[in-house]
Parts: sequence; structure tokens; C-alpha cells
Amino acid sequence: KSIPFFIVAKDEPQVCYGIFFDNTFHSYFDFGKESQDYYYFGSENGNLDYYVFTGNNMVEIVEQYTWLTGRMPLPQLWTLGYHQSRWGYDSEERFREIAAKLREHRIPCDSIHFDIDYMDAFKVFTWNQELFDDEKQMIADLRADGFKPVTIIDPGVKVEPGYDVYEEGMARGYFATTPDGDVYVNKVWPGDSVFPDFGQPAVRDWWADKQKYLIDLGIAGVWTDMNEPASFNGPLPDDLIFADEERITTHAEMHNTYGHNMVKATFSGWRRHSDVRPFVITRACYAGSQKYTIAWTGDNHSIWSHLQMAIPQLCNLGLSGMSYAGTDVGGFGSDVTPELMARWVQVGCFSPFFRSHCAKFSANQEPWVMPPAVLDIFRKYVELRYQLLPYFYDATRACSLTGLPMMAPLVLFWQNDPNVRELNDEFMLGRDLLIAPVVEQGATKRLVYLPAGSWYDYWTHELFEGGQHIIADAPLDVCPIYVRAGTILPKYPLQQFVGEIPA
Ligand code: GLC
Repeated sequence: KSIPFFIVAKDEPQVCYGIFFDNTFHSYFDFGKESQDYYYFGSENGNLDYYVFTGNNMVEIVEQYTWLTGRMPLPQLWTLGYHQSRWGYDSEERFREIAAKLREHRIPCDSIHFDIDYMDAFKVFTWNQELFDDEKQMIADLRADGFKPVTIIDPGVKVEPGYDVYEEGMARGYFATTPDGDVYVNKVWPGDSVFPDFGQPAVRDWWADKQKYLIDLGIAGVWTDMNEPASFNGPLPDDLIFADEERITTHAEMHNTYGHNMVKATFSGWRRHSDVRPFVITRACYAGSQKYTIAWTGDNHSIWSHLQMAIPQLCNLGLSGMSYAGTDVGGFGSDVTPELMARWVQVGCFSPFFRSHCAKFSANQEPWVMPPAVLDIFRKYVELRYQLLPYFYDATRACSLTGLPMMAPLVLFWQNDPNVRELNDEFMLGRDLLIAPVVEQGATKRLVYLPAGSWYDYWTHELFEGGQHIIADAPLDVCPIYVRAGTILPKYPLQQFVGEIPA
């Protein structure tokens, strides 16, 4: 995610401003590494276009930045529910089994994600007819049980004569070329693949219409991946020919906006062919992509440092306009331990986007493969998420109106409090919930800083005055949560999916 935006906040003299360096070429930023006396930024090419936002505090800066680059539209409520995913679910039987197990173990869930194996030879906008008896019927059955299926779509189009997406794109000049005019080929999941030039309006229009294939099948959203664009046979060369609308340019200029243009196309296809608020997820994006997509942070590992990193990563994305985001809960690569899973779900259930996902070569990490105590912890936090859905939905509404993040570092609201400046293991969810998860292996207590105000412990209802550090008890099943005094915290009755029970 290339979002060249940063915020400066100083005490003496009190100064607060933000800079958005709107340059899509390879750019660089030095924040005091060369010298503590200055910072600088620049780029290898392109115009020196940058916007300076001034204001009284960081809140005003973020509001202005998102006023300029756009704010997320209100999502469908169910997208805030729990999503179950894994690379390696590869047959109709397996998907039906996952759905049944979620309901059997009473893990509320609104969506199951279909990773690349659902496709025929990884060809986008196709379905594997050997591993699935009848995908349309399966999707209908999943929907009847409250699941909204989401499919992955990668940009790479398999080179295969006779494959309609390849043939159409070749005939119409829709794929990136070398400077000599040959269509450029690199390897991704399908093997030799070509890359749609999403900067061309006609290509976006074509890709938008391709969404109809998924919509007609009953798919509920699109998970766009590998759209940096990623490639297995070395990076795409800088001099490949890409378009920026009507203007012909190169990969060097369009690389950082490739994901942006792909999600723009995807979003407009759903606007055109479906009657729901589009649900698009992306791995790559640029400033402003929040108008079209939500995001996840890509391929992390099941290690404690990556759980720790999740909080500042998501807070930074929030300050950069891309608030509706999450991590692969449990971790993508490596094998998760039960303890790490218990702690990750406590962060995941308070992340704007809440999805468990892991790699094909990692151990299974569905809640029911965990020991019973961790299965119970998992359920406890997914249930809490579902009860708090009205609060989450309010947070998306606020974000869509003001651009202020759903999940934020404390420094955003208590900028003048030196205790929160380096705080990377607590965050605010909306304006009234302070979440202080345990992100250290073996810990059963943690230091919590409560900022100015009065705070109730969510679990014990004990009242604390802010402006102090406290030690919170946090055995494995407890994520410390504090509610701002005076808050009205609406809760839904427990349901297994959004809309199961009329609220
Ligand atoms: C990429 C994605 C990951 C996905 C995998 C297979 O690594 O980031 O989420 O599971 O590709 O599609």
C-alpha cells in the first residue's frame, strides 16, 4: 500500500500539519535518519506536487486529508461480521464442511472466502468444474445458511488461446506491453500471465462488466489480490507501457496505482450490475482507494511480533484514510499456537475487518481445531463482536462522514499527552472504547495507560480516573477493554449471522 501521506505534530512551538506527496513514482522519505534536524522526501520522477494541510490538531489534519482524497462509503452491515478463510479450501465438500462446523460450534460468521483454488487452472472469472459439483447450488445453500461467499480475483490473466478473458484482452489491446509493443508476459498463479492495463478507462469498463459473472453466481464480494502487481519471474520492468487515462506512460509511474485502478474497476462493476453496496477487499492500494475498497495487510506470519505489528499497521492505515482494514487473524504463514490464536482473535475482533486466513502450507487454524479452552475464547470474542455490531456500524458511519478512523492510536485524540506518543499496544475503537490487548507471549497482566477522562473496565465495571497507568489482569480469556464514562453502548442480541434475528 503506497500512501505517501504523513503528519507532523510538535509541541514547541505547537505546530500540526500533514503532507500528501501526490506522486506515484518510486518515492522516498527520510524522517530524521540522515539528521535529527530535518526530514526530506522526494521521488525519482514526476511532478513535485504536494498538498499541505494545516490545522489545530491531528483530527483536523486527517479530516482534511480525507476531504481531499475521499472517504469510504457506508458498507453493508454484514461485512463487519466474522469472515472465515483459508488458502487450501479446495472442494465443494470442504466448503460445505466449514460452513457446517461454524454453525455446529456456534461461531457466528457471515462470510466464507474462496481463495484461488475455486478457479479452473487459476483462470479469473472461471470455476473449477472438477472439484465442485454445482457451484451455483452450493452458493445458494451457503447463502440460505447466512453465509455471503467472497471470491478472490487476481489481475494476472492466464495465457491460453481460447480462454475468453485472454482472447478479448488480446484482441482489444488491454494488456501491458513492452516498449516494442509486445504483450508482456510474467508468471503468477496460472503460470504465464498477462496484466490488464487498468489505467485505461476501456479496460476498467471491461473488468467492471466481468464482475457480472460473479454477481450472477450469487457471490457477495470480491477479494482482489496480487495487485501490486506481484509476479513470480522477477518484478515487472519499469519501462513497460501502461496508460494513465488517455496518456501513455510506463510501469514506473503506474505501479503504485495498479491496485487502485483495479479496485476502481471492480467497485464500478458492482455498482453497475448489483444492487448492493460493493464489498471489495484489496492488498495493494494508493491514496484515495478507500472510496472503492477495504484492505487487509497481506501475508503476515503466525508469530508474536506480527501480532504486535498489527496494531500500529492498522492505526497507520486509519490515519491514512484506509480505516476499514484488518490482518490475517492467526497469521498467514507458519503454524499458529493456541495461545497466539487466543490473543489474535482479541485483536481481530476489534479490528475494522475481521477475517481469519492462513496459507496453504500452514497448519489448520479454524477455531474448532484449537483446544476446547481456546475454542471457547474464540467464540467469546466473535460473540462480543456480533453484540457490538451497532457500535461498529456507527464507527463506519462516522468514518464515512468525517474520514476519522474507526481504529485509531490514542495520540490522535490526546495529542498533547506525552504518554500516548509511542503507544503501540493500545488503540481506540470509535470514540468510546479503549482496547488494550495482550500481545506478548505468556503475559497474564499488562500495563494499561488510561488517558484523560473516566473509564469503566468493561468486564468488572470498575471505574478508573484517566491520566494514569494501571495494571490490568488479563488471563488468556481476557482482553482488557475500557469504556469512556457516559457512553451509551448499544448491543445486539446474539446472532450467528447478521439478520438471523430481527434487531
Ligand atoms: C497471496 C495472498 C494470500 C492468498 C494467496 C493465494 O499470498 O496474499 O492471502 O491466500 O496469495 O491466493
